[in-house]
Amino acid sequence: MLQLDFFPRMEFHSLADYQKVSRMSLTGPEICYLAQNPSFFQLQKNHLIITHEHSQLVDRLLGFRIKYIEEMLVAEAMDFDPNGTHDSWGPSIHNGVQTWIGLDAKTLQTPYSEMARIFQLLKLRPYQHVVDLGAAYGRMGALIGGLYPKTLFTGIEYVKARADEGNRVYKELGFSHCKIIAEDLFNKAFQIPEADIYFIYDYGQVAHIEHTLTELKKMAMKRPIRLIVRGKYAQEIILQNHSWLNLAYEGKTAGPYCIYQAYLRHSV
Ligand SMILES: C[S@@+](CC[C@H](N)C(=O)[O-])C[C@H]1O[C@@H](n2cnc3c(N)ncnc32)[C@H](O)[C@@H]1O
Repeated sequence: MLQLDFFPRMEFHSLADYQKVSRMSLTGPEICYLAQNPSFFQLQKNHLIITHEHSQLVDRLLGFRIKYIEEMLVAEAMDFDPNGTHDSWGPSIHNGVQTWIGLDAKTLQTPYSEMARIFQLLKLRPYQHVVDLGAAYGRMGALIGGLYPKTLFTGIEYVKARADEGNRVYKELGFSHCKIIAEDLFNKAFQIPEADIYFIYDYGQVAHIEHTLTELKKMAMKRPIRLIVRGKYAQEIILQNHSWLNLAYEGKTAGPYCIYQAYLRHSV
């Protein structure tokens, strides 16, 4: 077993540092200790390939079994739709919901280094609540779990196997302030949790994103909210139909995301 007092000297400068650590057999507390180090989630440079490789190494170190679970989901989908692709497999096995089964794992989730940058911009404070709408395995919760121990995180994810895996990792690492709820965001009976910050990365069909934005508008009538939007569909829907959201930050070089804010307290 490694001694925890070895780690204060451990800084992550290059991918080789992660590869070195991944060859060690770390215990849960040791991995949790790594995840409390901001340099673990950050990258100095914003190179696309390195960004994705870095995130995959971090996933592996944290213990996510993403490749295995995605392969199981593809196998299940191929039974229904042998000639399908990532456009059709999700809807085939999930009641028409676009769950992106078979999508390249690099594209499915936002890189950790981009999330770290977003939370620096947002100046996340203790006791704030962050909700990821369509969370997949909940990378955002893993980052919050390590770096922001007093911030609450809730992910909402349709695919139960992804939600279960995220919750398993949070439990292993002792991130009791983080959880993923397996739920359909388009289920009209489901109430989006009240939160300070919401995140959407093109989670499904246009109609579903539209429904979620309308629910967020109701939330913004009760309290101030901030919304991080990644992906071109959600951006286009906001531009066309949701002028109640005020653009607060537009990521040009650091990442393809925008941050909006709204508080409609004087609206009916
Ligand atoms: C592109 S991924 C983004 C994952 C995560 N937000 C991130 O950025 O790392 C979108 C996720 O939304 C989920 N999703 C799609 N439609 C959904 C719905 N109606 N309800 C809940 N989750 C949904 C998909 O299964 C997928 O895991």
